[in-house]
Amino acid sequence: MSFETISVIGLGYIGLPTAAAFAARKKKVIGVDVNQQTVDIINKGEIHIVEPELDMVVHAAVTEGYLRATTSPEPADAFLVAVPTPFKENHEPDLSYIQAAVDAIAPVLKQGDLVILESTSPVGATEMMAEWLASARPDLTFPQDAGENSDISVAHCPERVLPGHVMRELVENDRIVGGMTSSCARRSVELYRTFVEGECIVTDARTAEMCKLTENAFRDVNIAFANELSVICDKLDINVWELIGLANRHPRVSILQPGPGVGGHCIAVDPWFIVSRTPELAKLIKTAREVNDDKPHRVIDQVKISIQEYLQNNLDKNIKDVCVACYGLAFKADIDDLRESPALLIAQKIAQEHAGDVVFVEPNDEQLSAGVLGAARQCALSEAMEKADIHVLLVDHKEFNDNVDKFSELEYLTDTRGLVK
Ligand SMILES: NC(=O)c1ccc[n+]([C@@H]2O[C@H](COP(=O)([O-])OP(=O)(O)OC[C@H]3O[C@@H](n4cnc5c(N)ncnc54)[C@H](O)[C@@H]3O)[C@@H](O)[C@H]2O)c1
Repeated sequence: MSFETISVIGLGYIGLPTAAAFAARKKKVIGVDVNQQTVDIINKGEIHIVEPELDMVVHAAVTEGYLRATTSPEPADAFLVAVPTPFKENHEPDLSYIQAAVDAIAPVLKQGDLVILESTSPVGATEMMAEWLASARPDLTFPQDAGENSDISVAHCPERVLPGHVMRELVENDRIVGGMTSSCARRSVELYRTFVEGECIVTDARTAEMCKLTENAFRDVNIAFANELSVICDKLDINVWELIGLANRHPRVSILQPGPGVGGHCIAVDPWFIVSRTPELAKLIKTAREVNDDKPHRVIDQVKISIQEYLQNNLDKNIKDVCVACYGLAFKADIDDLRESPALLIAQKIAQEHAGDVVFVEPNDEQLSAGVLGAARQCALSEAMEKADIHVLLVDHKEFNDNVDKFSELEYLTDTRGLVK
């Protein structure tokens, strides 16, 4: 059975580009989101997120009638669930968004439909989703009970696109397709083939779930190694950037770069989904999370030392006279995304604790909402460099790289990105 109508549940950074990609291939797409404002914006042919090329594709899809958004699900041949999967206070995964999506789509399901979980999920979440669907629709059969011949097919196909390059990567990246049965996987591959030009590699749902988590845990563990080295080198008075450059001359060594910590909604979150399922076994993965979460506090300690040194060398000044400048708040270079950003955490802590002035520079969002850093003031790069006494480089944005010579002249610089080396 072919897919005439496709429904995407959750129209955020992942769901909206996916809906647009199907619609661009002239599929009828019904996008569903609980946020009325999001729905209204999309139905005007506009977008509510920043992603290159997405605006053009959505505009064309809506104007030509292939994409429509709504707050309540309607019948379709395939449902792709792309809702948030954050963690709770105790680092346990919060599956309530998936459960709410299931409750909403269950009433409109019909025999022959395919349901795909795209949200990054802990191992077992797809099976749980299938159980929730089965309890809501006892009149239909599901793969966990009816195997290959179930009325409804269920699969997990995680997303691994890079923000800023989503429209290209959606098409070109390989897809891991984890079916609850082989016929679920086969149907999912048929669906993704609508626009995916990369390879669609078939596995089971649990392996697909673990694959996505593994990719991000791998990055986290490797960054933690670099971050731990940076703390050790600081203690031993060794330049970590030089050290890593030298060690990477070994043909089989490739150490990543340290930084102020790990941010974003993926690498800083997903490894906890492995830890929460197997706490007694995931020792290295948990330690890596702790090392990376601890790094911002180490940076704050370095800034305090820098302030003390400044005061010792300027006996006519007291702490209230010292101005601190923080460069960059985003969780990585050249974006405006502040989610889980260690740079933001460091700057907020400095703004709270420092008795003197604090200024910050964020070239990718020059109109940050007032209060994001308490009384700290946003200012231009040149003003911060001129006025501040203590400088804290937190993100290697292009604008800062372009001024590396000026940064290297600053006497009291905490350089968390190795810009000056
Ligand atoms: N953004 C990324 O780069 C990225 C990359 C890979 C995987 N992921 C994963 O994809 C999933 C979605 O992430 P995102 O970045 O698109 O999130 P997002 O916050 O940008 O979008 C989620 C959308 O879902 C909507 N929503 C919430 N509950 C809903 C419900 N019950 N029914 C319908 N809509 C609902 C929200 O209003 C929001 O518009 C997460 O599991 C995330 O970990 C994200």
